[in-house]
Amino acid sequence: MSSNPGISEKTPHLLVLGMGGTIAGLAPNPEESPLQYKAGQVGVDALVAQVQSVVPEGVRLVSRQIANINSRNLTEAHLTSLGLAVIEALLDVAIKGIVITHGTDTIEETGLFLQVTCGKLAQTQSKRVILTGAMLPSNAPKADGPSNLLDALRWASTSIDNFPGGIYAVMDGRGCMAMDLAKRHATALNAPLQNAPSSSVGLINPSWLSGVKAVQAAWNEDLPIPKEGEWPWVEILTSHAGARPETITHWLGSAVQGFILAGSGQGGFHDDWVKPLDQAMVQDIALVRTTRTGAGATLRNIPELDRPGCCPSGSLTAPRARIALQLALNAEKQANKAGKPLTWQDFFARIADLPEIR
Ligand code: SIN
Repeated sequence: MSSNPGISEKTPHLLVLGMGGTIAGLAPNPEESPLQYKAGQVGVDALVAQVQSVVPEGVRLVSRQIANINSRNLTEAHLTSLGLAVIEALLDVAIKGIVITHGTDTIEETGLFLQVTCGKLAQTQSKRVILTGAMLPSNAPKADGPSNLLDALRWASTSIDNFPGGIYAVMDGRGCMAMDLAKRHATALNAPLQNAPSSSVGLINPSWLSGVKAVQAAWNEDLPIPKEGEWPWVEILTSHAGARPETITHWLGSAVQGFILAGSGQGGFHDDWVKPLDQAMVQDIALVRTTRTGAGATLRNIPELDRPGCCPSGSLTAPRARIALQLALNAEKQANKAGKPLTWQDFFARIADLPEIR
């Protein structure tokens, strides 16, 4: 753990956890080609040092590097380490709030993961966990990382009356629930929250806040974090023109435990998948149906009757549905070990049925 000089770990502070990403990226020729760069090159202590002189008065910062990667290489082991670090920090009385610097490519997965494993704890501890990142590397002439980090630190340290503890994200001057993040533009500065219901940093919009409270009221219990090496194996399979049965049969007989079917339209999949998917269910492979359209909910028995046991994703996108199914399969295993007859479908539905903020 690194900290700014003069503060001990018992002094009230904000914790900044570094995961890497473009916010920690370096371009060899930043003036000429800022978009040609390597992510995850600068340590989180250096990112914190860049904003140290302008953080609100009295806010002390401590940083800790969890990983320094391009988030396209995010592993389940990274998620386990991050989740455990967040829980530890939420339980530490000296830590008033947590900021996570992260690559934007898979920030969607991490946002949902943290909501489902730490969301209730953050709310009951009245602490905010804020994910942030950047679209331009740290040495680009108009790097967006420092202002995003500063906004995240301000949000994490704002008086608790303004809005509750929970798992949020900040990019380009706006904030949203982290579970609503999804990178939907290759280069725009607000890419990860372009389609997310959000509020300007420092100016909380009441209808957004009531949506946040509705989600928090519905989220009753965090799910356990899978141990490193114990994450269920789940694949995303996309239905498309010319889809073949082999896309499914390829996996039969492997150790895969679940499929997210990214279907067309309302989450329908190619007729050539019907028989092999029946076979997958016989082999106890969990099935979740979602839509590849990028927006809108996938609902039970629409457009056709669902096979028994196959769950619709609600408004979860394919990457989020994959994390949700992994956590639900793990939660089923832990519950069954404790003698509780709950199924992965019970846990998955808790996540998929969370209210949408509009
Ligand atoms: C990454 O996700 O690590 C690279 C892209 C980004 O952070 O914007």
